[in-house]
Amino acid sequence: MQTVHSVSQVREHVRSWRSKGLSVGFVPTMGNLHPGHISLVNEARRRCDVVVVSIFVNPTQFGPNEDFDNYPRTLDADAAALVDAEADLLFAPAVDEMYPLGSNQTWVDVDRLGDTLCGASREGHFRGVTTVVSKLFNIVQPDVAVFGEKDFQQLAILRRMTEELLFPIKIVGAPTLREDDGLALSSRNGYLSDSERAQAPQLQQTLQAIGQALQAGERDFRALEQRHTDSLNQQGFQVDYLTIANARSLALAAPGDTDLVVAVAAKLGRTRLIDNISVSIV
Ligand code: PAJ
Repeated sequence: MQTVHSVSQVREHVRSWRSKGLSVGFVPTMGNLHPGHISLVNEARRRCDVVVVSIFVNPTQFGPNEDFDNYPRTLDADAAALVDAEADLLFAPAVDEMYPLGSNQTWVDVDRLGDTLCGASREGHFRGVTTVVSKLFNIVQPDVAVFGEKDFQQLAILRRMTEELLFPIKIVGAPTLREDDGLALSSRNGYLSDSERAQAPQLQQTLQAIGQALQAGERDFRALEQRHTDSLNQQGFQVDYLTIANARSLALAAPGDTDLVVAVAAKLGRTRLIDNISVSIV
């Protein structure tokens, strides 16, 4: 595997693969790779001849009071993990390679899907994500790009963006990898203290409990959300949202909706955690 830092080097590699008729898979990340990320690389390998991974902590998707400066940067360990995973190319650009004119003036923004859930509390976050992923798509021009269902709203927004901007790229969603106790793997789990880490699986347990209540026929979505929000807050979480949403529109689930996502974002101490499960009801 080669590591490159410039847009032109990526283009050169891709041009050479294309001339041999090889298909290209792509996994964008912000690094500090864990087995969840590696599962996306494996999925890309299954579908394509060569796999490009990007590692770029993208400043435009972090709010002013978020963890951009402290976000874990572990490039050497990440590159070693990608060698083991048999990735073909690692693209690790500096900020000015991705934002060559400094303060960005061109934005890609997905309206309504980006307004709810994480979009409501992290202003500008998804605009940063869609803008940087558009740039990365233009650089790598892959056949397939793989994203995790852990970031359910991000995946939905990127699918919509890809269709609406007519990127000739197949977007593939991959299941969430979890610790044995149910906690979704995340680069931010490293911020948790021991006691917070012991508490964190309650998020997944709460989602499971709501899923079971829905399967058992409970249909008062708002009452379910409220009951479990209160319970998480009493246990020491600060819930940002706990929402039963329509899995397609991401609007609040309404009577008659059958494909649902139960999504949660909550702070434990200073760490913001997110998780979700999909639930189909009749
Ligand atoms: P990052 O948080 O590094 O995640 C990179 C990819 O890994 C995303 O598609 C995310 O959904 C997936 N992922 C994270 N945890 C996972 C888990 N436990 N199981 C399976 N997949 C998991 O998401 C981003 O970076 C950025 O927003 C990015 C898309 C790279 C744009 O900057």
